[in-house]
Amino acid sequence: MKHYKIAVLAGDGIGPEITREAIKILKLIEERNTVSFELLPAAFGACAYFEYGDAFPQATIDICDKADAILKGPIGLSHEESKKIPIDKQPERGALLPMRRRYNTYANFRPVFLPKALAHFSPLKPEIIGEGIDLIMVRELVGGLYFGSKESGINDKGLRYVKETLEYDELQISRILHQAFKLAEKRRKLLHNIHKSNVLKSSVLWNEILEEVAKDYPDVEVRHQLVDSAATNLCLNPTQFDVMVMENMFGDILSDQGGGILGSLGLMPSACLGDEKAYYEPSHGSAPDIAGKNIANPYSMIGSVAMMLENSFNMPEEAKNVWAAMQGVFADGFSTADLSKQGSGIRMISTEQFGDKVFDKLRLTPKVPS
Ligand code: IPM
Ligand code: MN
Repeated sequence: MKHYKIAVLAGDGIGPEITREAIKILKLIEERNTVSFELLPAAFGACAYFEYGDAFPQATIDICDKADAILKGPIGLSHEESKKIPIDKQPERGALLPMRRRYNTYANFRPVFLPKALAHFSPLKPEIIGEGIDLIMVRELVGGLYFGSKESGINDKGLRYVKETLEYDELQISRILHQAFKLAEKRRKLLHNIHKSNVLKSSVLWNEILEEVAKDYPDVEVRHQLVDSAATNLCLNPTQFDVMVMENMFGDILSDQGGGILGSLGLMPSACLGDEKAYYEPSHGSAPDIAGKNIANPYSMIGSVAMMLENSFNMPEEAKNVWAAMQGVFADGFSTADLSKQGSGIRMISTEQFGDKVFDKLRLTPKVPS
């Protein structure tokens, strides 16, 4: 029997309610397999700040340090509420970025997946979606502008100024590129390199290293696209993409656009992998406006569990079964109020009911003997 410790950070806003549904699925996975999960709940985000004065308190760090994997819910407050927390202690700067830095989770995988049958979720026309959207964005997660040195103050002209630096070394670039190439090898053998080398020197170095790394993956075709043009193409012709790789800020922005073409960021789980530790989280925020209403779809959180099964626990078949169960619930015509409108032929169910339906589908899915 394999035994894994999972730190469970439910986070803020809709975090606790969608995490509850993800835990149901983890329990079912235990029942169906010779695996046991020890769930270690811990405070993280604005809730942790209000309770312990720190959005990533030491007790949570200790739990995450000893966990085999971390399941993290969305964090953050509304713009107004955030003002109650000093800037450097706010959950994004005070918890999320420190977690990424601590565990060096440099590789962020964000699937943008919409089967043809679910095309109605998307704002794009059916002819654009064709047979469905199925791409993965690979985002560098611990470098670039988000982690560079920062200063601000008054300059010699007496004006307020700010300076943030974008820095990458060749190792930071090559390791994320290797991850992307390896993924492309397992999929359509097509890699879109997203950059801005017509302006940024960082992209010039990125592309230079890409040429070197590409030699190790002769079967993978590389296509280059400027990031601004990629944004357009994601709307006009998303099915041209399979694996897209890019630096941190480009990935932050384009992956939200990925959620946009699906119809909601609520359909965006993600995996954040380092060489020693991994954590899994929805790509979206904590949606304070709908928190506690039992209407948030738990797809991104349950999808994060699926990514954990595949990447941390070597259970790719069960991961596929979890994805299929979620898609199946949508295909049966059910949805939640955050994703769909009343009257569109959709049977509206709650967060909890959605979780139950995924649970029931998975329970009935035959297991592949391990
Ligand atoms: C994301 C989020 C974070 C980021 C924020 C919350 C710091 O937007 O995971 O995409 O910018 O990376
Ligand atoms: Mn983001």
